[in-house]
Amino acid sequence: MLLTGTGRLAPGGPSPWALLIRDGRIAWIGPPADAPDGQRVDLGAALVTPGLVDSHTHPVFAGDRSDEAAARLEGGAPYTDGGILRTVRATRAADDVTLEALVEARLRAALAAGTTTVECKSGYGLSLTEELRHLYIIKRVAQRVPVRVVTTFLGAHAVPPEASSLDGYATHVADEMIPAVARESLADFVDVFADAGFFDLATTESVARAALAAGLGVRLHAEQLARTGATELGVRLGAASVDHLEQLDAAGVTALAGSSTVATLLPAAAIVLRDRLPPARALLDAGATVALASDANAGTYGGFGSMPLVIGLGATLLGMSVIEALTAATSGGAAALRHPDVGSLSVGMAADLVAWDAEHEGAFALHLGAVRPTRIWIGGEEIDLGT
Ligand code: NIG
Ligand code: FE
Repeated sequence: MLLTGTGRLAPGGPSPWALLIRDGRIAWIGPPADAPDGQRVDLGAALVTPGLVDSHTHPVFAGDRSDEAAARLEGGAPYTDGGILRTVRATRAADDVTLEALVEARLRAALAAGTTTVECKSGYGLSLTEELRHLYIIKRVAQRVPVRVVTTFLGAHAVPPEASSLDGYATHVADEMIPAVARESLADFVDVFADAGFFDLATTESVARAALAAGLGVRLHAEQLARTGATELGVRLGAASVDHLEQLDAAGVTALAGSSTVATLLPAAAIVLRDRLPPARALLDAGATVALASDANAGTYGGFGSMPLVIGLGATLLGMSVIEALTAATSGGAAALRHPDVGSLSVGMAADLVAWDAEHEGAFALHLGAVRPTRIWIGGEEIDLGT
């Protein structure tokens, strides 16, 4: 199949353009006059981009914490583990059918808004049986929704109420839960909420080392609430990404710039928490690889289907150019997920493409969250958007 257009193929494509899809991959890109034969689909002046890659989400939860967000914004209690444990109670009480329907609706919302690859974390179960149940739910939903799913085990999200200590729970995560998750091939990555009031550097390192020993990748929630040094720990362990980074300083920027660990920024959660903004400009100027992701979750930002907004926030609030923000939400996310097949438009990549109701990528900033896909292809197959 040959896609053609008179508009922009962003970032970096020719205009006018033609793109040949063969066996689910991009086989050729160039000007239409030079295009090989193929069944033509003309996209006119529409902006076309790679499918968006949302490399940080927490979709497996029940319950509602918008009351907590409202109270916090009125000057109520600050963000602590109490909120996560409230979601853990509601999620443990939800049966499989209910939880699966919630996860499916969230992934369908993400897909309809242009996300073609999504990372999904567990982490609201916090016991072996519950965490495995949540990971199996992600697996089942991934078979029904045509989005590409990368799965992360976040057993070290908070210490559950029944655990006797932080150390005891971290040992349980490292010695029992991670081997079980790996044995059942339920996750690609292990994540730890390495922050003040959650997992300290010693427990984070023991969980991360257990992940590496089990053949799983590592990613960390780092420097969201306090500057702890979790960034340097992540770099030292070869983490695929360190995520949040609102409190990162110049030394942390330097550590990331000299590494293969991706700096994943989550501006929507930062503004809902009225937190500092992460140092996007300094990271880019220093040469770090930056990803933008939604962090859609139960308590600090609830927007599944918000990647167009996140790109807009990158460009308006974080000092990124629109092209830098779009790149961070596509190839940056792919680098964070170590998924070399997705996130950019070049020959050999998976044919994951989105045509938007816009003509220029500047619309992600100008329309801030209100840019919608008109057509989506994943692996060369068009997705039925039901419109
Ligand atoms: O990424 N920071 C840790 N985890 C989530 C929030 C989880 C929650 O509050 O339910 C986040 O922001
Ligand atoms: Fe998160």
